Amino acid sequence: MKKAEMLVEGKKTFDLPIIIDTMGNQSLDIRNLRKQTGMITYDPGFGNTGSCQSQITYLDGEKGILRYRGYAIEDLVEHCDFVEVAYLLIHGYLPNKKERERYADLLNRHSLLHADMQSFFRRYPDHSHPMSILAAMAVSLSSFYEINLEEDPELQIDLTVTRLMSKMRTIAAFSYRKMKGTDFVNPSYTYSYCANYLNMMFSSPVVPYEPNPVHVKAMNKLLILHADHEQNCSTTAVRLIGSAGGNLYSAVSGGICALWGPRHGGANQAVIEMLDQIYQDGGDVRKAVERAKDKNDPYRLMGFGHRVYKTYDPRAKIARETCEEVLKELGKRDPLLDIAEELEQVALEDDYFKEKNLYPNVDFYTGIIFRAMGIPTNMYTVMFALGRLPGWIAHWLEWHHDPFERIGRPRQLYMGPTARAVPPIAERE
Ligand code: CMC
Repeated sequence: MKKAEMLVEGKKTFDLPIIIDTMGNQSLDIRNLRKQTGMITYDPGFGNTGSCQSQITYLDGEKGILRYRGYAIEDLVEHCDFVEVAYLLIHGYLPNKKERERYADLLNRHSLLHADMQSFFRRYPDHSHPMSILAAMAVSLSSFYEINLEEDPELQIDLTVTRLMSKMRTIAAFSYRKMKGTDFVNPSYTYSYCANYLNMMFSSPVVPYEPNPVHVKAMNKLLILHADHEQNCSTTAVRLIGSAGGNLYSAVSGGICALWGPRHGGANQAVIEMLDQIYQDGGDVRKAVERAKDKNDPYRLMGFGHRVYKTYDPRAKIARETCEEVLKELGKRDPLLDIAEELEQVALEDDYFKEKNLYPNVDFYTGIIFRAMGIPTNMYTVMFALGRLPGWIAHWLEWHHDPFERIGRPRQLYMGPTARAVPPIAERE
């Protein structure tokens, strides 16, 4: 076994084992560090911390590589639909024709929502953000579809995974109908996964509706792009909740809450709001770039920068191409695409963005595609969540079967007051 030597205070050396992953990357194994040295590591934001060993997704932020279970994202987007990719992430291999058909059938069979859950939607205020509804409904599923692990744990988990994959799509569409104030449309066995979702969102009793194949194709691509991204903020939340023994519904609900933040999945909504603001203000992208560089201004270019990618996010590249394709096929023009492309060009030529390796990320172009599909801005992060769902599930399952699994519990560097006595109330300032 390879080892690294660590010198503490110039006196004593300790051996730290080195673990080499399947791609040849080396990591220091510090599991016994505190026992051996009395010290812990300090790594706010966990930028240098590997929290688990995983077989799901490989990401090389320097080279712009993203693979699910070894398959390149570019390959998957080209040759698979979202259901196949979800199957791949959850089961570890691509389904054959028979497995694919069986899975589609299973997803259809579990797509209805308990009638009592429908009344929950009706009680939400009209202005509710659909992400708040999504998170609440995800955890509520645990009351309606109990997981009885005493019976047959693996079967129960399988059932929960299928229910989540299927019912979250229904919940997402219902949250949109609630927002619109229109009746819910139930899922139908006649449609594929994405077409079914679009039908639940947009079909109407008074205007004929048939899901547009261009929209269906784009939605499949977008969900695949979002399907997993290794140990990001929401997935870490899911794994942490799982590590406490939290069930899949509660872990996914926690993932949804983490995703909602504008630095994470909420960025897709924030990008469109930013582009629209630039457009409304006359389209001066340079002004936006200058603001983003100003240390005294909290303004950031939304859809730019990434913790791991120090080059162009491969998902952003596919999203940009898909965006151009979709608008062309629909015969639409969107001034926000022109703004986005100009903004990207100006930022990429700017020293500030060059020096900090800030490139467009997945959220930069996806909002324009959702817009072209008629999806409202506050549903964008819901779309991201639908895409990320199989990734969250795969990570929860991986934790569940991990022989090293322990409750997630980081340590801290305490910088507060040292011990002191409580002063009598009359003496307090
Ligand atoms: N605009 C302007 N400056 C930026 C930006 C940006 N979008 N992103 C990072 N920086 C600067 C930041 O000010 C800092 O500068 P300095 O070193 O002088 O203090 C430096 O770049 C490093 O930034 P950081 O915040 O320390 O980097 P991080 O790895 O902690 O954060 C990030 C990554 C994605 C949160 C951040 O780049 C950001 O806020 N981007 C905008 C929001 C966004 O698009 N989020 C979507 C991420 S991709 C999808 C997802 O994960 O859900």
